[in-house]
Amino acid sequence: MSNRRKIRIRACIVMPRVVMLLCITTFFACDRQEDIIIKDQYGKIADAAQLSAGTSTIFNIGNSAYDTPASWVTGNLLTRFYAGDKLYDDNRSTEGGKGPLYAGSSCGSCHNHAGRTLPSMYTKDAGSGSSGFSSQLVYITRQNGFFFRNYGRVLHDQSIKGVEVEGKLKVHFTEEEFSFPDGEKYSLQTPHYEITEWYADSISPKDLIVDVHIPLRHVGMGQIMALDHDELRRLAALSNYPEYGISGRLSMITERNKQYIGVGGNKAHHADLTVELGFSSDLGVTNDRYPLEVCEGQSQNIGYSHYGIQITTREMEDVDLYMSALGVPARRNVNDPEVKRGEDNFYKAQCHLCHTPTLHTRQDAPVLLNGTRLPWLCNQTIHPYSDFLLHDMGPGLDNHVRTGSAYSYEWRTTPLWGIGLQQMVNGHTHFLHDGRARNFIEAIMWHDAEGAVSRELFKRMSKDERDALVSFLNSL
Ligand code: HEC
Ligand code: HEC
Repeated sequence: MSNRRKIRIRACIVMPRVVMLLCITTFFACDRQEDIIIKDQYGKIADAAQLSAGTSTIFNIGNSAYDTPASWVTGNLLTRFYAGDKLYDDNRSTEGGKGPLYAGSSCGSCHNHAGRTLPSMYTKDAGSGSSGFSSQLVYITRQNGFFFRNYGRVLHDQSIKGVEVEGKLKVHFTEEEFSFPDGEKYSLQTPHYEITEWYADSISPKDLIVDVHIPLRHVGMGQIMALDHDELRRLAALSNYPEYGISGRLSMITERNKQYIGVGGNKAHHADLTVELGFSSDLGVTNDRYPLEVCEGQSQNIGYSHYGIQITTREMEDVDLYMSALGVPARRNVNDPEVKRGEDNFYKAQCHLCHTPTLHTRQDAPVLLNGTRLPWLCNQTIHPYSDFLLHDMGPGLDNHVRTGSAYSYEWRTTPLWGIGLQQMVNGHTHFLHDGRARNFIEAIMWHDAEGAVSRELFKRMSKDERDALVSFLNSL
């Protein structure tokens, strides 16, 4: 407990009852970040521009920069954080721990260090490969827009002994070269997918729409789940800049007969941390919300549900806590003149109209899966560099399937906080939902439709200005 809190509680004890009640309510409500002085790794008072997420900002620039608890995670909460981290990272046993069909061996096999493992489609396997894990999610949909009832949403290209995998992904790329007006070259590669060794009782592989996503970084997941939805509604109403061709919209999703604002996932199609879905759909781990194996209806797999529930809600809450309590990396080099020029260029190119620098979390404390409240996450000023709205990004990024309320050409603005550390944490700079961009320049040059004006403004900058903008992205 912080000293400030102790003082608050002591003050409550000497006050009359009504005031005491109010005090207790404040105690369970939010942390006020203005009261707290935050120091960097050298013990110096941090510059305001460094604080990506108020009191949850951490100053670790090593390869665990995405995988470090915020400093408010102490005592029992810290014990549970590490329990969640372990459940997240440990390879689950194939003897009743996962499967019979699965897409990854643990959450961490795809989100290494709570980040973005480089999928095998970008290593020399260029597909599922026969060895190791693919670390990508291969969404399969029928031409009629529906998922396969007995296969789940994603291709399970791994299996326990004696069970055939659902198929393998094969990828080839086509590449086109372009030049900036000053002559500097860049090239854009487009992935093309095919499913081989497709195991299906009745459906032809020709009937499949294949859509591959690379993992998302977990930076700021707790803050994202605590976003102030009134602010998002206002942002959606304001996000209409006909002069730049931009108009973002909220992703409204219906889950268990209730309407939610979707903020998670590349299509903003998740309203929660998807822990139960992740265990069930990605790992084949049954739980209270998804008690049946994803592949239960496949003729080869009938009967595997005899393992019963493979992870408890209490354990999944620890995983939820782990993701919610991760610290958000502080910005670096904020006073470097090149970074400052790059920041100006970010605004000049109108990137901020979608990659919104500043948002707030709501007034009430977020509640996890099993009822734990996290008052440290509310009433915070945060810098996610996203509006969490859906935008038309043009035909090049169109994935030909509708997800939740998002059309095939619409994507959620990816939050950019922590993006400059992806190379350090995961050893690569693949960006965009399917990782086709190999660096920042390619990611920007893929922006089209609502992102076209930004792309053109960036294209017309001098090489120095473009480099400065990239330095700014590296400081996030
Ligand atoms: C086979 C790879 C794979 C495995 C295993 C996996 N994930 Fe993911 N995860 C992904 C991909 C790909 C995405 C991005 C999906 C999209 O495009 O929205 C993602 C997205 C997420 C998101 C949303 C992130 C955001 O920024 O909105 C969360 C949360 C998440 N995963 C948690 C988990 C948890 C918890 C587990 C383990 C139970 C898990 N994942 C296992 C690949 C994986
Ligand atoms: C119209 C809204 C919009 C504008 C304007 C915009 N972006 Fe984006 N940005 C997006 C969306 C949506 C995505 C996700 C696209 C995808 O994954 O296919 C994205 C993705 C990115 C990514 C990749 C992130 C990752 O981790 O994969 C980077 C980098 C990026 N934008 C930088 C910029 C920069 C720099 C500018 C200004 C030159 C800019 N964006 C302007 C909406 C926008």
